[in-house]
Amino acid sequence: MLLIKNIAKIVGIDDGGRVGDAERIKGRERLQGAEMASLGTIDNAWLLADGERIVDYGSMDALTDGGRIAAYGTASELPADLPEDAAVVDAEGGMLFPSWCDSHTHLVYAGSREGEFVDKINGLTYEEIARRGGGILNSADLLHETSEDELYRQAMERVAEIIKMGTGAVEIKSGYGLTLEDELKMLRVIRRIRQTSPLTVKATFLGAHAVGRAYKGRQGDYVRHIIDEMIPAVAAEGLADYVDVFCDEGFFTLTETAAMLEAAAKYGIRPKIHANELAVSGGVQLGVAHNALSVDHLERMGAEEIAALKGSATMPTLLPGAAFFLGLPLPPAREMLNAGLGVALASDFNPGSSPSGNMAFMVSLACIRLRMTPAEAINAATLNGAYAMGVSDIAGSVTRGKLANFFITRPMPSVEFLPYSYSSPLIRRVFLRGREV
Ligand code: NIG
Ligand code: FE
Repeated sequence: MLLIKNIAKIVGIDDGGRVGDAERIKGRERLQGAEMASLGTIDNAWLLADGERIVDYGSMDALTDGGRIAAYGTASELPADLPEDAAVVDAEGGMLFPSWCDSHTHLVYAGSREGEFVDKINGLTYEEIARRGGGILNSADLLHETSEDELYRQAMERVAEIIKMGTGAVEIKSGYGLTLEDELKMLRVIRRIRQTSPLTVKATFLGAHAVGRAYKGRQGDYVRHIIDEMIPAVAAEGLADYVDVFCDEGFFTLTETAAMLEAAAKYGIRPKIHANELAVSGGVQLGVAHNALSVDHLERMGAEEIAALKGSATMPTLLPGAAFFLGLPLPPAREMLNAGLGVALASDFNPGSSPSGNMAFMVSLACIRLRMTPAEAINAATLNGAYAMGVSDIAGSVTRGKLANFFITRPMPSVEFLPYSYSSPLIRRVFLRGREV
């Protein structure tokens, strides 16, 4: 049992919607529109994490087991029945936030691509680099030459980095393999990360990230290969929770995307798709039609896309790091929120368009560039991120019964200070599954 005391403010409390008795309080699964503008908080608080007390909490995945949030309150009502051996942690007047839920990353990759970074400075666009055989194919070549163990080692360095920066749940995509063998290698590395790190990890199969070199000029054949060989093999090993397609100009068409999503649906694998990054691709509408859990990027979208998302179960996910790094136009976050949509924020951590998994920075970017308020951006990077990767029953808010995943900041004058101080290392201590990491 773990008691955190002396917390100036607990941020991101969601204890609405009681289910059954008081031991089983269930938060909301996502926030939409005006709901995103408020953050549940209490001041001068304590929090208790307990791995044992709540054992039967619905559909918990065995792999996500661990310490859970048992109770919290204000200091005047400190729990009296605390066991002798409880660990007590003094937050020293810092704030406690639920860990970030980063619902879109490509953090398993080999090497790095700073050469293209310089090419971009010298005037090439992302698409021009891709057309020259660089970009994603460059990472695929590197990954092909890298052993599974070495790939795991490199990825775990990034995992350690994002844990330190406050991330507690992460979705990781394949997509730098582009052959059956190398896609499976990536997905096995993702599985190993899930088994060996305290993060909650979801895996997404993104064979349709680019056309593999062996299929150059034969995109249709590559799509058939994905449908006939890759998806069945991935499903047979149970390696993917979701399927993704880079549905955009110069990558995969709507017809191809639909065919791949249908193939995955036969195995019960739901889509999360890359849409509307480079052009108004129709990917948003297609995603909604296929009950995608999320449609991501959305740098190019208008009223029709917003209308298509209204009333759907699909979470629009914004990746402000990619727009920042590539100098893309900005997604219409305000219009989406004003239309009543929820949005999620994710890092897109990858070597080509967003070489950063710093979610606090993504929150700052959302405030600075997308005109989201600090409360909206924090909700987007926690509870709505959790929804966008299917873990909002166990992560994304301070809710009794959810995993004890949170971080403690240095003392701060306000919640708004976090995104405002956009490069200060404000996160002081990190706890995942009730243990300090
Ligand atoms: O999300 N847009 C497609 N894929 C990645 C970039 C991958 C890369 O350039 O390596 C993205 O931005
Ligand atoms: Fe991406």
